[in-house]
Amino acid sequence: MLLKEIMAAIFVISSCAGYAQDGSFNIIPEPVKVLADNTGTYQIHRGTMIRTIDVSSEFSAEYFADYMEQYLGMSLSVEKPAKDRKGRKHRHSLGKETFSGITLVNLKNGGTPGGYQLEVTANGVQIEGNDEAGVFYGIQTLIQLLPTRAGVLPILPSVQITDYPRFAYRGMHLDVVRHFFPVAFIKKYLDYMALHKLNYFHWHLTDDQAWRVEMKCRPELTEKGAEREGEIFGLYPGTYQPLPYGGYYTHEDVREIVRYAAERHITVIPEIDIPGHCMAVLATYPKFSTTPDEPKRCAQTWGIFNKFNNVLAPTPEVFCFLKDVFSELCDLFPGPYIHVGGDECAKRWWQDSPETQQFMREHNLKDENALQSYFIHYVQKVVNEKGKTLIGWDEILQGGISKDCVVMNWRRPESGMKALKTKHRVIFTCLKWFYFNIKESRTEPEIGPKGPLPLEQVYDFQLVPDSLSADESSLILGAQGCLWTEYIPTTWKAEFAVFPRISALAENVWSPVEKKDWDHFAHKMLTQFERYDLWGIRYSEAFFRTQDLERKR
Ligand code: ACM
Repeated sequence: MLLKEIMAAIFVISSCAGYAQDGSFNIIPEPVKVLADNTGTYQIHRGTMIRTIDVSSEFSAEYFADYMEQYLGMSLSVEKPAKDRKGRKHRHSLGKETFSGITLVNLKNGGTPGGYQLEVTANGVQIEGNDEAGVFYGIQTLIQLLPTRAGVLPILPSVQITDYPRFAYRGMHLDVVRHFFPVAFIKKYLDYMALHKLNYFHWHLTDDQAWRVEMKCRPELTEKGAEREGEIFGLYPGTYQPLPYGGYYTHEDVREIVRYAAERHITVIPEIDIPGHCMAVLATYPKFSTTPDEPKRCAQTWGIFNKFNNVLAPTPEVFCFLKDVFSELCDLFPGPYIHVGGDECAKRWWQDSPETQQFMREHNLKDENALQSYFIHYVQKVVNEKGKTLIGWDEILQGGISKDCVVMNWRRPESGMKALKTKHRVIFTCLKWFYFNIKESRTEPEIGPKGPLPLEQVYDFQLVPDSLSADESSLILGAQGCLWTEYIPTTWKAEFAVFPRISALAENVWSPVEKKDWDHFAHKMLTQFERYDLWGIRYSEAFFRTQDLERKR
């Protein structure tokens, strides 16, 4: 038998729910404190009532009822707060003693955002969130106490759980440029994030291959820049096929996604990548480049930065363009952050351009790093005027940036450390640990050229290195998994790349460091894979092979 089958057989015997009979729970991410008191159990039945104390918990109640119906085939009742004749909703009194069912309370107590307490007694389940998100995360934990198959009775052990996140920023990124993903899949992605208590969705909307968000101020961007004439198949350089490829999100799509995300306590961060990675902009407006007379088109292949001109020229029209699109972006996305990209700018095009060199002299910019910094400062001002904070990939440190910018550290962790030492806030997305487009094991069905990036590596990344002072550590906002989609043309491949590593990311970024324990996590993953099966997720099985190899060693 395969290791997976043996382990699965043991698990069916020992555990039909999300917890094992030995009293251990299989909650991912591991909560701060789990106290199993063995005083009894509570069984959820068809028709069990979910009671909300005020309207702010209604979504969580409906969400749990939907989950029970969709995955376990059991319909529950949601009792909403009573309304008076004027339609105002009243708070229920707590009445914990007499009510048998599931009670959701938003304490609004100013405690750690997203924190909650979950208690199961013989009488029912009570979730008390510090805020609305806390109630929602309590529901996510409750889901993990449930069986992983329909038909198995949902008998919950009595337990008290106290929980709150270690980091405020727990993200997943998705590149929708190299390959386009429909709104329905973006929603699924957000659902997966919610199941892992992740709360920032970084949406990479523009790059060399396309511009994928409607701009009312510049409709040509999606009329011309959202399509490429063909693409390569197979690993780079691959075989070229002249198959036109396109797609973009309208304002209506964006609003729908932002709304859907907000219900799940996820903030959407849009990225418009400048001043490099701009071939789609230049295909639309060739005059924005340093070589305006040469023909331009959207990139049809991957990873070439010096061969094709993909940088913006520093001209008045370009700065006007940047003001228009970033202003519109700020109005379209309600969240506090806007991502400016700033990575991999091929500065040779600026070096080769007499007009650009002239601009640099006129503006006292000593080199191309300073020019890049000029672009970033310009966008930062636009974004700040709209009351938002700028995020950029770690190259934005080149040439200097203001303290207000957040650095997203994708290259080696040393860049993040440098940012912390110079008092910038940092989000870790380091390629070697958090790029989920890198295959999980060498023998993985092909999703890209690089690898492996095994589950344990994602789990092990030390988010707060020992060498940092308390002040420096407080600038670490959190971490994020990234999914670049050059080799991920379909939704199933996207799922395959993300799962199970999203679970390791979630525990790394949510759970207290003293609760991090790879062996325990690996044990819990067996139940987590059962949940993936229940949720209909396509995932990599490299974990089982890795475990097998380790056992033989
Ligand atoms: C990046 O991977 N170029 C941010």
